[in-house]
Amino acid sequence: MAVTVVVGSQWGDEGKGKIVDLIAPEFDIVARYQGGANAGHTIQWGDQTQVLHLIPSGAFADGVTCVIGNGVVVDPCVLVREISAVHDLGFNLEGRLWIARNAHCIVPWHLVLDSAREATASDQAIGTTRRGIGPAYVDKVARSGIRMGDLLCTDLLAARLRGLAREKNHLLTEVFGQRAIHPDEVIEAYAAFGRKLRPYLTDTPALLHQALAEGRSVLAEGAQGSLLDLDFGTYPFVTSSSPTAGGACTGLGIPPGAIERVIGITKAYCTRVGNGPFPTELDGSAGAFLQAAGVEFGATTGRLRRCGWLDLVALRYACQLNGFTGLALTKIDVLTGLDTINVCIDYRIADRKGIGYSSAVSTLEKVEPVYRTIPGWTQPVIGATSFDELPDAAHALIRQISLFTGLPIDMVSTGPKRHQIIHLGS
Ligand code: GDP
Ligand code: IMO
Ligand code: MG
Repeated sequence: MAVTVVVGSQWGDEGKGKIVDLIAPEFDIVARYQGGANAGHTIQWGDQTQVLHLIPSGAFADGVTCVIGNGVVVDPCVLVREISAVHDLGFNLEGRLWIARNAHCIVPWHLVLDSAREATASDQAIGTTRRGIGPAYVDKVARSGIRMGDLLCTDLLAARLRGLAREKNHLLTEVFGQRAIHPDEVIEAYAAFGRKLRPYLTDTPALLHQALAEGRSVLAEGAQGSLLDLDFGTYPFVTSSSPTAGGACTGLGIPPGAIERVIGITKAYCTRVGNGPFPTELDGSAGAFLQAAGVEFGATTGRLRRCGWLDLVALRYACQLNGFTGLALTKIDVLTGLDTINVCIDYRIADRKGIGYSSAVSTLEKVEPVYRTIPGWTQPVIGATSFDELPDAAHALIRQISLFTGLPIDMVSTGPKRHQIIHLGS
């Protein structure tokens, strides 16, 4: 089965964690390829709920190896806590979790800079998760970053942190009026993280190459969503990495030809956390309904998620970017109780129709969605496990998405728990 990539097709929080956890037992390895602790992937089974920020969502699948790839920016403080939380749930990750030695590391300057930039940007603020993601990728690209492997050698770590501190403290104090962070405050703490994480650090590209050569299968787990992609999203209201399928190659070191399937995780409506255009956003009672029924609070920051109707124009763009081979439709149960359901099938500006998706903020702010309205349903569908249990109106919605995108809907998720799923395709 080589490599399957799971990608969010919207603005994140589509239910990637739920689907990755569900299908993880079919794979040998689950590997995160980008982002960092800005991600919050929720997994529910039995009466347990766990939100994972860095550890791949295969953590609770017996015998499955987890990899944090080189494309991820790792906050070692969050990771150490997360390993311990997973351990407390009865899942030992030693010998099962591998972290790329060449993954970049979030250091305290990144966290302060992320917040300081947001605070001073006022109406230009991105609405980041303030997890230091942007500043960490800046340093990676500038070739001044700290890598996870650097934590293993205190002398090297100290030299690199001192070099970074010179630049970053200038920014902190002179540009943002913040207190400087003395490198000595950081060196010992990060060396201690290194000692804790040493058993997990390895050459993950080599591990993955060997696994693929031996015929083992890999599930690459994306974070965020296609419409937040650094290049293809609504710049500057984007994240600083490539959540789209191509990011799996650079974020893990695997060749494009190894990818056999790309599953687009699509929520039955849309949400967005943070700022930026959102053509189908709902301000009124339907938006409040989706927010309440879908429990739309950020899994990382607890912020309210903005809600809106499903946007098929944007979804088609995500299909083009990722080459999805199929979709997993999530949270269809949340639509129960709405009188009517809208899906956006076109954009128009004044009387000009047929405007395709544009990642340009100035255009996307102007477009008005053209909706197709389908009847709602009242019968609860939560926990349904077969297509026949869904009402005709839900069948119509599923067909509409499939027809519009030209893709099979492989799975329909009918609740947050692992078993609340309808398998339709391969
Ligand atoms: P991710 O970031 O894509 O992994 O998604 P999040 O975990 O941030 O947000 C998805 C939320 O919806 C979580 O609270 C999940 O437990 C929940 N969820 C996932 N699938 C379903 C579903 O089919 N129905 C309902 N009601 N909730 C779901
Ligand atoms: P998962 O993996 C939803 C959003 C932020 C902000 C923008 C930039 O759980 O789907 P950043 O902190 O990355 O610099 O913020 O991206 N964002 C997410 N929105 N789900 C996420 O992850 C997100 N990660 C970042 O709200 O708008
Ligand atoms: Mg999330």
